[in-house]
Amino acid sequence: MSREVLGYDRIRGGVDKHFRHFPVRANHNIFFIQGRDSPSPQRHIQIVESLCYPWGMDDLILSHRRWLKDSIRKTVDWSATGQSRGLPPPPAQKPVPPNARTVALPGPDRFDTVCAADLLRVLRNRRSIRRYADTPLSLEELAFLLWATQGVTGRRGDLATFRPVPSAGARHAFETYLYCRRVRTLEEGIYRYLPLEHSLLFEFTERGLATSITEACFGQRFVGQGAVTFFWSVIPYRMEWRYGAAAHRVLPMDVGHVCQNLYLSAESIGAGACAVAAYDQEALDALLRLDGEEEFVIYLAPVGKRTASVVTEVSDLELRLSAFRNDPPQRSEGPLEAVLVFPGEPVEEPVEDRVEG
Ligand SMILES: Cc1cc2nc3c(=O)[nH]c(=O)nc-3n(C[C@H](O)[C@H](O)[C@H](O)COP(=O)(O)O)c2cc1C
Repeated sequence: MSREVLGYDRIRGGVDKHFRHFPVRANHNIFFIQGRDSPSPQRHIQIVESLCYPWGMDDLILSHRRWLKDSIRKTVDWSATGQSRGLPPPPAQKPVPPNARTVALPGPDRFDTVCAADLLRVLRNRRSIRRYADTPLSLEELAFLLWATQGVTGRRGDLATFRPVPSAGARHAFETYLYCRRVRTLEEGIYRYLPLEHSLLFEFTERGLATSITEACFGQRFVGQGAVTFFWSVIPYRMEWRYGAAAHRVLPMDVGHVCQNLYLSAESIGAGACAVAAYDQEALDALLRLDGEEEFVIYLAPVGKRTASVVTEVSDLELRLSAFRNDPPQRSEGPLEAVLVFPGEPVEEPVEDRVEG
């Protein structure tokens, strides 16, 4: 059925401001004119809402809006949480199966060899990167990214771990899975990070992982193309044990911190990441062999070396230009390392400027 949304209000003579915000699609059009015998403007809004939100504005949108508020805290029966009932805290890390294949990772004392970037530059240059060079990551670089996102810097048993990212109640309710595609010395496959030991657990490998991942992400091709793709799963009980029904509001905040650290640490080693929240939940959980109830994927991000770094800082540009004048290269060697963007010159929009997700 074809309907047109106009939201024309004859009494006030114009397009009602409320209607501009509705997600109007070509096949979802509503036409309405406010006349003498027509219902009140409030009723019109309800009608338009029910047409534009066929799933029910009240049931879903309103409850999700309420969910965003911390009012939930006042409704929690704090005496009923696992912690208040004296139940032991769930383990800070999933168990390691016997005879598992693990890989020890280089520790933080080795990271100054991979990361020497200053924070200001990293913050200036951070962007979502969806195109990656074929260059593999070294094991040190991967270890650095894992440590920066979920490494353990302090611990009070299973009650609390401290990491480079904050977490509500220091609960850190996530596990990190990796699809390692191009990491030096690592076989291609799915791994799990063991933050307590700072090592990798080999989970499994199978043919066509990159394609399956892309398919599970609704065809977003770049997702399977990174040197490594990070998948964060959530084990909700780790947070519910302490916060009951107030746990779920803080989980997306927590995982946002984790992904931001991935963006920043990736940028600092000349790599780029792109956060991805659009994926087929059931397909991705099945692919990673998660039960989908007690543990499921909450966020993911491919990472890879940048194909070219766009130099926008004038000081940086001047330094490179004077180096070029003093020592002009005889011929170009190796992969392209930088695209110099001269201030004021028009440049083509890079692929990472796409706005998606
Ligand atoms: C919660 C969240 C979900 C996102 N999901 C996707 C996604 O599924 N696919 C995608 O290509 N980009 C996704 N992005 C990346 C955004 O499109 C990107 O951050 C935005 O366009 C701004 O660009 P910038 O990160 O380079 O500043 C997501 C970003 C966030 C924060």
